[in-house]
Amino acid sequence: MKGVNNEVISDVRNRAKITDIVSELVVLKRVGNNFKGLCPFHNEKTPSFYVNPEKGIFKCFGCNEGGDVFTFVQKTKRIDFLDAVRDLAQKTGVQLLDTAADQAEYDRRSSMLLLYQQTAEYFSRLLMDSQQGAVARDYLERRGLDDYTIQKFKLGYAPPAWDGLLNYLSEASKASPETLAEAGLVRRKPDTNQFYDLFRNRLMIPIHDEQGRVIAFGGRTMGDDQVKYINSPESAIYTKGEHLFALHQAKDSIRERDSVIVVEGYFDAITAHRYGFTNTVATLGTALTERQGKLLVRFTESRRVFLCFDADAAGQKAIDRGMETLGTIAEGIGIEMRVIKVPEGKDPDECLRSTDSSAGPTGFHEAVQNAQLLLDYQLEKSIAQVDVHTAGGKIEAAKLVVPILAGIKNAVARGEYARTWSMRLAVREEDLLTDVAQYRRQRKIGEPETARPAIAKNAPKVGSNEAELQLLALYLQSSQDYDLMRRRLADQRLHDAVYQRMKEAMDGLGRFISAEDFWAQLQDRLAPDLEATQRLWDLSAKAEEIRQQKLPISVILKDSESRIVREKLIRATNALSIQIKQKPGEEEEEKLSLMILQLKGIEMELQRAPDGIEEVKRKLDDLLVGTKL
Ligand code: UTP
Ligand code: MN
Repeated sequence: MKGVNNEVISDVRNRAKITDIVSELVVLKRVGNNFKGLCPFHNEKTPSFYVNPEKGIFKCFGCNEGGDVFTFVQKTKRIDFLDAVRDLAQKTGVQLLDTAADQAEYDRRSSMLLLYQQTAEYFSRLLMDSQQGAVARDYLERRGLDDYTIQKFKLGYAPPAWDGLLNYLSEASKASPETLAEAGLVRRKPDTNQFYDLFRNRLMIPIHDEQGRVIAFGGRTMGDDQVKYINSPESAIYTKGEHLFALHQAKDSIRERDSVIVVEGYFDAITAHRYGFTNTVATLGTALTERQGKLLVRFTESRRVFLCFDADAAGQKAIDRGMETLGTIAEGIGIEMRVIKVPEGKDPDECLRSTDSSAGPTGFHEAVQNAQLLLDYQLEKSIAQVDVHTAGGKIEAAKLVVPILAGIKNAVARGEYARTWSMRLAVREEDLLTDVAQYRRQRKIGEPETARPAIAKNAPKVGSNEAELQLLALYLQSSQDYDLMRRRLADQRLHDAVYQRMKEAMDGLGRFISAEDFWAQLQDRLAPDLEATQRLWDLSAKAEEIRQQKLPISVILKDSESRIVREKLIRATNALSIQIKQKPGEEEEEKLSLMILQLKGIEMELQRAPDGIEEVKRKLDDLLVGTKL
């Protein structure tokens, strides 16, 4: 029983919530004390599969399958009992002693989790402490938070001292300052052996994982410190694009209400919960990632996701920036994404606490009810600056909606939208449809990749395909590399559509046990995708080539990324030059030329400092926001 003993088994049984485990495969709906859903063991159209969380068991009245959480994993993954225990142990963070490396990694993670738990308790005590915590309690009171909400989110207070937490943890956990620094709780003064607290005089907001373990903190200034939030760095237990703030507190409600609201800020989420919108989560300072999208829809049957970003420019920019990704995520996972327009141009927190007649909880509730589909939002937004009542405006508006309409994959929906919008803009339906069709032809939208030789011929010969392949091959090197790549590329879309699909498939596998196993699963998953399957052989060859080179993964990673960025630069420059050649008018021409100059600047920067790739990537993305390049 390598790595597994009775203690482990009962530990796992206690920690693994059967509804959570089953939810990975089955969408569950509450019925009284039970949950029901479509049986994963036989084909059915009406649910006869029941889960009883109190007893920790499942039962299907259609096919008679039944058992506990271990049986469920055994049967769905077709593995034996011990492997099911191992699988669940890993998910719930129960210690296994398989190999020395497992042990070491597990120890590292669990001692880090313990440190975060102790830290959260420490901050929470200080908040309640009448003397020190008074400032923070006053602050929370001013923001209208009640004790229940403060407890629910386990808020805390970090005192102004430079060594409060450092001393406390050194005593309570006996961890060395180096370990605390590695956990991201304290920092080392450069070139010294002195350490100091990362969070000082801040309101502390713990970030939990899905199982409710503290994995990071956001620390908000209560005064006017220039830095509003200090956040824990990413670590072995915390990845921004993978976790969502308040998911732990929200998941039961998401399931019950069959929808989820995604906001931007910690406080937006906390206040939403305070006012009864308990199915609210917040992203952690990044655009919504595909991983997060997938995490969310596990809990809803209708897959209804409401995006509610700040009404201010930054919030809108966040939506716009993520628009294409969001659209793709929505289509990819099959979720219905809607955009909530917060009344009175406020952020959700302000809106909920406002006493204006159109705002407050009632106003917010109405805004949720009236939330537009993401697609409608995109369309409206695209013509927001245009006066559609003039003849020139109409033409302009039609031009602007064409690319969006052209992007709708489903032909029937595309036709419907074209009809609605032709009426809306009072242009002829046939004309709009012709433009959309032409746009699709020109951009080869909807045609399979192989049918586009013309594009391939004209593509700049920088070999991003090669670079992207190299990037993908890094996933295959080892389990650590797999995890690293998955985290690293969480927000990145590959330019090559086939490689992007392969990346998604690899991301989707979730873990890497052995190379053979990974390879087999990947082939299975990609089997229906002919193009991708064909390229698997390239991938395997590339992976082997990298293995032979015996270079550190960081070196190859840097090389691939800089090649990809360089190619993106060239593509953007070419596209802009083409636009200029089409004589778009003086003002536009000037804008385009300026952008080309800026691109050149970025290119030079990349040549000068090839190590600053992150910075260059960010600049490039910022420059290209909203340009579709
Ligand atoms: P906001 O500035 O809207 O923060 O940033 P908020 O949480 O709503 O705070 P209040 O209402 O002004 O008190 C939205 C999110 O962006 C990230 C945080 O996750 C924050 O919740 N952020 C913002 C940072 O990480 N650091 C910052 O300095 C600012
Ligand atoms: Mn805010």
